[in-house]
Amino acid sequence: MAKILIIDDTPEYITMLTALLPEYEVFAAKDGKKGLHLAETVIPDLILLDINMPLMTGYEVCRRLKSIERIRNIPVIFLTANDGSDFEEIGFKMGAVDYICKPFNASVLKARVKTHVNLYQLQSNLQQQVKKDTEEIRKLNYEITYISASIAEMKSKETGQHLRRVSEFSYLLCKFLGKDETECEQVKIASVLHDIGKVGIPDEILNKPEKLNVEEWNTMKTHSKLGYSMLVDSEFESMRLAARIALEHHERWDGKGYPNGTSGEAISLVGRICAVADVFDSLLDRRVYKEPWNEVDVKEYFEKMKGIQFDPQIASILLDNFDMFIDTWKSLLKVKTVS
Ligand SMILES: [Fe+2]
Ligand SMILES: [Fe+2]
Repeated sequence: MAKILIIDDTPEYITMLTALLPEYEVFAAKDGKKGLHLAETVIPDLILLDINMPLMTGYEVCRRLKSIERIRNIPVIFLTANDGSDFEEIGFKMGAVDYICKPFNASVLKARVKTHVNLYQLQSNLQQQVKKDTEEIRKLNYEITYISASIAEMKSKETGQHLRRVSEFSYLLCKFLGKDETECEQVKIASVLHDIGKVGIPDEILNKPEKLNVEEWNTMKTHSKLGYSMLVDSEFESMRLAARIALEHHERWDGKGYPNGTSGEAISLVGRICAVADVFDSLLDRRVYKEPWNEVDVKEYFEKMKGIQFDPQIASILLDNFDMFIDTWKSLLKVKTVS
């Protein structure tokens, strides 16, 4: 049952309106303050608001309603004895959807109430559906990106969970850097693809347990540029961001990384973030060519390489919150589903 809130200082009008609208659940307040309180607690589908009230006019009530995020979209119909286009104009400027003069025609009032309640409910349902669909698309996007990236990871007989963890750590580092949710979410998805270029690296190099010779190492290093070229022409910004991460995640702060030897802030922020996230997880993880490092050694490594291999600010975030990152790493060892 749709809910209607009546705010009117004349009790007779409240009684009359309530009797006219039996198909709705009606709430009533005799002044603006109580009306605002009811609006926030009841969250009605429509508000019938009197203009001429002592203490707080209907215009002021409307202004306040529109300033409260979760009730600002509730349609307001002004009810008043004030006749004239000036009053109507003010009402519409305040954000009202309609304006009905007292004394009113019962059937016209009922029809208008019905129209606005239906419109509002339709709009709310549509908004909820869009929100739900957007969330579905976000999850699907992440999952498809993750599955694509896992193809490269499976070639090197990794678990695939490395990608998910690097993505989570990149997201967290981004958050600590004060970026907004949209940007952090983009980095989270894009960083999943950091090693996508490994699809182009021969299996015998990816899975060689011994140290790679110079030629093999040079081939291995091409995965950065390969990944970049796979993604850079995408029409989607998040994929172009992934291209940058693929290209730069092995660059070093001191310029001794690959493929371009870019240094300092000339490396994109996302590249510097993913470099920290990738090495943090790789050191803790078991690989064909190495045993997992213990937490103390990993911490020491970042302390030593802060400002040398890694952006000092990002490495400091990791070090300052090291226990939290380790806890996250442990909890992600068990995660198999999309976050
Ligand atoms: Fe890589
Ligand atoms: Fe990686």
